[in-house]
Amino acid sequence: MECAEKMSEEKIITSLLTEKRVFPPPPAISKKAWVKNMAQYREMWKESIEDPDKFWGKLVDSITWIKKPTKIWDDSKFPPIAQWFVDGKLNTTYNAIDRHINEGKGDKVAIYWEGDDPNDTRVLTYNDLLEEVCKFGNVLLKAGLKKGDKIVIWLPMIPELVITMLAAARFGIIHSVVFAGFSAGAVKDRIIDSNARILITADGTFRAGKKIPLKEKVHKLLEETPSIERVVVVKQVGLKTPMKEGRDTWWHDEIKNQPTECVYEEVNAEDPLFILYTSGTTGKPKGVIHTTAGYLIYAAYSHKIIFDIHEDSIFFCSADIGWITRHTYIVYGPLLNGATEVMFEGVPSYPSFERYWEIIEKYKVNIFYTAPTAIRLLMKEGEELPNKHDLSSLRILGSVGELINPEAWMWYYQVIGKEKCPIVDTWWQTETGGIMITPLPGATPLKPGSASRPFFGVKAEVLRDDGTPAAPNEEGYLVITSAWPAMLRGVGQNPQRFQKTYWDRFPGKYYSGDGAKIDKDGYIWILGRLDDVLKVSGHRMGTMEIESALVSHPAVAEAAIVPKEHPIKGHAIFAYVILKKIITPTDDLKKELKNHVRGEIGPIATPDEIYFAADLPKTRSGKIMRRILKAIVNETDVGNITTLANPQIVKALWEDYQLRK
Ligand code: WTA
Repeated sequence: MECAEKMSEEKIITSLLTEKRVFPPPPAISKKAWVKNMAQYREMWKESIEDPDKFWGKLVDSITWIKKPTKIWDDSKFPPIAQWFVDGKLNTTYNAIDRHINEGKGDKVAIYWEGDDPNDTRVLTYNDLLEEVCKFGNVLLKAGLKKGDKIVIWLPMIPELVITMLAAARFGIIHSVVFAGFSAGAVKDRIIDSNARILITADGTFRAGKKIPLKEKVHKLLEETPSIERVVVVKQVGLKTPMKEGRDTWWHDEIKNQPTECVYEEVNAEDPLFILYTSGTTGKPKGVIHTTAGYLIYAAYSHKIIFDIHEDSIFFCSADIGWITRHTYIVYGPLLNGATEVMFEGVPSYPSFERYWEIIEKYKVNIFYTAPTAIRLLMKEGEELPNKHDLSSLRILGSVGELINPEAWMWYYQVIGKEKCPIVDTWWQTETGGIMITPLPGATPLKPGSASRPFFGVKAEVLRDDGTPAAPNEEGYLVITSAWPAMLRGVGQNPQRFQKTYWDRFPGKYYSGDGAKIDKDGYIWILGRLDDVLKVSGHRMGTMEIESALVSHPAVAEAAIVPKEHPIKGHAIFAYVILKKIITPTDDLKKELKNHVRGEIGPIATPDEIYFAADLPKTRSGKIMRRILKAIVNETDVGNITTLANPQIVKALWEDYQLRK
């Protein structure tokens, strides 16, 4: 009932519902594309669902094995756990680097790295990458790390990030990357949660020309993380950094005399490759576990098909969102495909709002993959800026992380793609490992704002609250009913939480947490999260985490976080705060609370607005009704309030909001 109410309260972007335009794939794109038309898509999709053994079996030879699998998948424990390429043995890094070198592509550029400062650039060929990975791999070996151990990486978008991930994967060491924009506290939590032995970080990071310290911030907290034996620090910005004797060393000193070759370890198909923490409705962020072979094959294949990657493609994924997008479509997908990619340290607005367009022109980028929040930000700056640049190398544009409204879609299509580049609006999640719903550039006619159709191996449905299928155009809950190779295998060491979060809401089906509808042509329209998860500039955050951060401040008694629709960020963060009795509400306190959240979680979680309230709408059992607060700040219908313990507060809060806005 509560969920049904929540759903009816969801504010749907009305323009999405009335969107009627359709854009067929440009013939020049279809001609070259791996999937050339809808008939081919349909046939392949049908096979992928009806005969996964055959479909994924054909992809076994897309990677190199130490021992080839004899079993494509094992569904004996599905749902929730399907295992893929089960008895195969392989090595991730071999497939991402060595294999291409052995095929004579060692001198091909793997990464064009572009720093925050446009004059700061690096180029790494596949040969270079192997040398660097081996040097750092030898450091890990020397430190005594072995298969199954865990490392935490807190690095900015610099090549050492990729090098560390691949060095770990070379030995079956499990990496857990923490977004550089998160706080040191988040790093500490993840170290403790995963029992990591080594932390790899930097003295700091550049952001829009500013030097932001990293190591210094985490230094003291490392006294509380006994599992950490070593800290390796990359000198990135030249900040003075505290170093603990015997534990902390500099990256450049460590790798100085290391051999540029190293062995690699045999890893089982289902051994974990990485853990990535993400926000959910309850509790602290959860560690989503991805394993090796299924994830890798899905990452490489989805990258190749959806972005139509060919030998000469130059791919640029701007994901400043340091999260799953970076893992799958900056590290594993492109490198497994032996592609050339651009990796960017900075932000789209520095030194000017032309930065992305400069990068595309400079490296002759063919495929550009970014988030709607960036598109909206750049759209606001006008079309004169992109029009100053030669963007003619572009073939395909991509969008990820949140809803792209048709206005932003059209701008991206017309101004950036000059109506020649299909837009792949890709829907997926940390948990899914790779893109799940997306157009295919050479095949799918595009409808602005729709992620269109499921990728191969993916069967998506929209259900009503009672689990029956929704009718065409009826809003409901998005679920996945098939098993796919890159699906998560668990969260932390907690099978109950895994089962409850994803598989119990609609028994046996993967519940995404998103609302959606399917139109009469079979196009899926994502409508946003139905749970207490926010998307702020594409970053995923739980209301609960921000509330816990607020409540950890001595002045705060209770807090409720609600998303307010925001023209650029998607969601802005609104915080309702009840102060402890003796505390006086002041503007200075608001500032202090904002800073407090910033320090606890990171700048991205900073509330945009704080409202002090005497009381909040609650159920009779004392649960704060966030949906009502959300309706107040978004000025939508508050719905039924008769079941509240204190219905009178709603009117007061509504009036107060109207007065203050
Ligand atoms: C949202 C990001 C609309 C969605 C890859 C999902 C999207 C959450 C899209 C996962 C899209 C992602 N259109 N919404 N194309 N892509 N989302 O785990 O709400 O950081 O549940 O993974 O982002 O966020 P996550």
